[in-house]
Amino acid sequence: MNLLNQIKEKVKKAFESCGFDANNTLVRLSDRPDISDYQSNGALPLAKTMRQNPRALAEQIAEKLRGDSFFETVSVDGPGFINMKVSNEVLGQNLFSILSGEKCGYERPDTPKTIVMDYGGPNVAKALHVGHLRPAIIGESIKRICRFVGDKVIADVHLGDWGKPMGLLITELQDRSPDLPYFDPNFTGDYPKEAPFTNKDLETMYPVASQHAKDDEAFATRAHENTKLLQDGHRGYRALWQHFIDLSVADIRKLYDELGVSFDLWRGESHVHERLWRMIERLRANGTLVKDQGAEIIPLGKSKNGNDLPPVIMVKSDGGVMYAATDIATIEERVDEFKPDAILYVVDARQGLHFEQVFLAADKIGIAPNVSLEHLGFGTLNGADNKPYKTRSGGVPTLRYLIDIAKEAALKKMESGEMGRDLTADEKTKISQIVGVSALKFADLINERIKNYIFDEDKLTSTEGKTGPYLLYAMVRMKSVLEKMGADKALAADDFVKITNPAERQLVLRLYALPDSVQTAYDNRTPHVIADYLFKLAQDFNLFYHDCPIKGADPQTQKSRLTLTKYTLHVAETVADLLGLQVPEKM
Ligand code: ARG
Repeated sequence: MNLLNQIKEKVKKAFESCGFDANNTLVRLSDRPDISDYQSNGALPLAKTMRQNPRALAEQIAEKLRGDSFFETVSVDGPGFINMKVSNEVLGQNLFSILSGEKCGYERPDTPKTIVMDYGGPNVAKALHVGHLRPAIIGESIKRICRFVGDKVIADVHLGDWGKPMGLLITELQDRSPDLPYFDPNFTGDYPKEAPFTNKDLETMYPVASQHAKDDEAFATRAHENTKLLQDGHRGYRALWQHFIDLSVADIRKLYDELGVSFDLWRGESHVHERLWRMIERLRANGTLVKDQGAEIIPLGKSKNGNDLPPVIMVKSDGGVMYAATDIATIEERVDEFKPDAILYVVDARQGLHFEQVFLAADKIGIAPNVSLEHLGFGTLNGADNKPYKTRSGGVPTLRYLIDIAKEAALKKMESGEMGRDLTADEKTKISQIVGVSALKFADLINERIKNYIFDEDKLTSTEGKTGPYLLYAMVRMKSVLEKMGADKALAADDFVKITNPAERQLVLRLYALPDSVQTAYDNRTPHVIADYLFKLAQDFNLFYHDCPIKGADPQTQKSRLTLTKYTLHVAETVADLLGLQVPEKM
């Protein structure tokens, strides 16, 4: 049992042996580390119901706990807080029994869930850009946290592959290469396997097509019609569109691989096309759809907060379908196929209204009873001027650009000797890639998901402060200390740490505190809690490393400190993995 749960049991028993109701012991990590490791505030509500003095009750409970050698001290403070300090023996002796497993002491309080996650949200034929960084990184981390606590997670990239952009591209191509067989209505053979263009071509063609539609009404109308034809199954357009998808997906996958982001499903919006039309038929038949200026809508009425919500348009006046309708059909599919307890959407906070509408519509038509539909919004990445981040030349940065500046910044630091002094030129090139990507990810994850943050190119790879390199350095140091001292890295049942210094104590307590951070991050879907834990762990380790010499110490102390280093590395690696951070061997 992990330390917090052991203490909860002990306090519960103490309440009971005093004859008190033990349902509300309120045990948690102390917020006063100067006086205690753990605290119980349960005497306060107890005193209210019993109409007694809280301090007197707390004293009675504390007296029971004092009889247990598990605790070094138990005091009653303030209005009746019970403050407990765990004995150094207990702290030093339980590393193996509590921390050695994969879960580092995490124990799930409830039953595992099945969760569908929708993150990434890339669009076919459009280069991934700055807006795709956060959903990928945050989504990946939340997925890892959910899996760590025992959930079954199905991650779906939910590719944007079905709307107007597809019609725009088809129309642009039609004008540029009218002789392609895809445009020949009499063509009955097999379409070419190879696309007559590259993904780069598509990415450059798209903005041009988009501009055309703005300047030329006839073009816009054709694009519109072509979108509809594609959706209705036009053979040539479907073949063309398949090329778009194949080329795009190959490139998108490469970028996500580089970021260490992966998906179980690569479905697109198009995937639910038929289901959506069946759904529309059903909603027409049962009178849910309302005709409104030629369109068919689901009226929503008031939101949970009481404001009027615009209706969801299920069928446009031209017979086409849009983003929200697709999302609603996708909910139905996910519920049918995976029977999830929750569907999580890691999508820009600015799509809040969209999800509010979609979730309320899903509720109205009864397709997801008892499924928790959660929009996990995130803020934007801003420049120093607090406006959306731009490239040096003022454009919208692509994801490629962001990854490259992070990698280059890391390489520059290595070349100037600020980092990686002992590395060969070859190693510098390789390791700067890992450090760059981890720096980019950590700089994002350390911020609260819902807030905007300022993307600071210069700070990204700084080795000081709350940065990726700071904690990678600490972790590399753990590895190299163990390596240099020839310490056995395997965790063993007779591992023991003799605490002789406050820095050792603080570090050990931090290790035992991981489950608490995991639970908070899981409950609130907030990876920054884990990122913050890792930063503090690195800080505690650095303090320990500074205050507690290993090399010159007597053999017993040396062994104890190496053991502590070994467990710190074990926990740190587990946590880095929850964030999706890669850690180099050297740096
Ligand atoms: N492709 C969309 C965009 O670029 C994001 C998709 C988010 N997921 C969803 N189920 N709507 O905005």
